Amino acid sequence: MKAAVLKAFDAPLAIETVPDPVLGTGEVIVDVAASKVLAYAGEVLSGKRGYLITPPLVPGAGGVGRVRAVGPDAVQLAVGDWVFCDPTVRSRDDAAAPSIILQGLTAGDARGLSLQKYFRDGTWAEQVRVPTENVAPLGTIEPGDAARWCALGTYLVPFGGFLAANLQAGETVLVNGATGAFGSAGVAVALGMGAGAVLATGRNQQALDDLVRRFGPRVRPVRMTVDEEADRQSILRAAPGPIDCVLDLLPPAASAAQVRAALLAVRPYGRVVLMGGLGQDIGVPYGWLMRNCVTLHGQWMYPRDAIGRMIGLVRAGLVKLDEVEVTRFALDDATAAIDHAAANAGPFKVTAICP
Ligand SMILES: NC(=O)c1ccc[n+]([C@@H]2O[C@H](COP(=O)([O-])OP(=O)(O)OC[C@H]3O[C@@H](n4cnc5c(N)ncnc54)[C@H](OP(=O)(O)O)[C@@H]3O)[C@@H](O)[C@H]2O)c1
Repeated sequence: MKAAVLKAFDAPLAIETVPDPVLGTGEVIVDVAASKVLAYAGEVLSGKRGYLITPPLVPGAGGVGRVRAVGPDAVQLAVGDWVFCDPTVRSRDDAAAPSIILQGLTAGDARGLSLQKYFRDGTWAEQVRVPTENVAPLGTIEPGDAARWCALGTYLVPFGGFLAANLQAGETVLVNGATGAFGSAGVAVALGMGAGAVLATGRNQQALDDLVRRFGPRVRPVRMTVDEEADRQSILRAAPGPIDCVLDLLPPAASAAQVRAALLAVRPYGRVVLMGGLGQDIGVPYGWLMRNCVTLHGQWMYPRDAIGRMIGLVRAGLVKLDEVEVTRFALDDATAAIDHAAANAGPFKVTAICP
């Protein structure tokens, strides 16, 4: 099959013929129709982000395609089914604390490296081999919509955060970094889950205005100035009442003060979920956390059963994929796709490689 191969960090991707994946028990082989390209894929493949991958490998985290072959233990999947391939592969030999790898992207920690050696290759290829439990049926879709359905991978991330926070309909939510790719998806998902109001923070006024234009008055934009106390006061002024739940999705370049500006705005007994990319301590006051009975939750990705429910939110029209602007690239143009994704980061955009 044809695949894009990363042979060494910072080497150009080689588009070449590699052996077809071989099916094992507990696995599914999918003919890849589309795979999302992260805005920061170039930083991952150059080694700049320090992600735990060991070239050579086929990059590409998750995607959409049709089942080509199922292992003998599959009970529901059938050849030809349209499916979403979830890159979140969990070790099966530690039920309490599984290692997580993102297939084709990174291991979570050194524990996951052996798992990654096996499920190393991702979706920038004509075929991908995935654990059976990572394949979620989409139902009938138009073949031309495969790249659009890749946006599920973006919406699922904040959905995982809101599930961790046990978000309830009618609650007031704050999304920190709401003008980013995952943050803006968080705004859409919170509204789809029935949030009464969504405080959307960001420095980019135009992007904040766009969120209000798309989603209406349940979205309350809050312009951030990167002055912690001033920003928190702006948040509290914009809130219609106590803030029940805060979801942080700031990138590595943001500061601890930017996280705290939002985090410390949560109400007593509120819930905070950290999903962003900060590489530093955030300095949350112990006494504040304790006396206010605040729950602070770290969340990487989402539980397996979130995928079916996310598809349900889309099928019900509660989260709308037609919001998403899709740009498609052939596998031969994978490098151009990476450049395009970097130059077109931000809300409601999918750059997809369509093998
Ligand atoms: N936990 C998980 O499962 C999970 C999964 C996927 C991704 N992530 C993480 O989510 C984070 C966000 O990814 P993304 O693709 O949404 O990023 P993004 O598109 O770059 O968005 C980040 C947003 O943060 C805001 N921001 C505030 N301070 C910033 C600063 N100093 N520099 C740059 N932006 C700043 C920006 O909005 P303004 O310019 O308007 O302020 C920007 O829109 C990443 O760190 C990624 O690793 C986590």
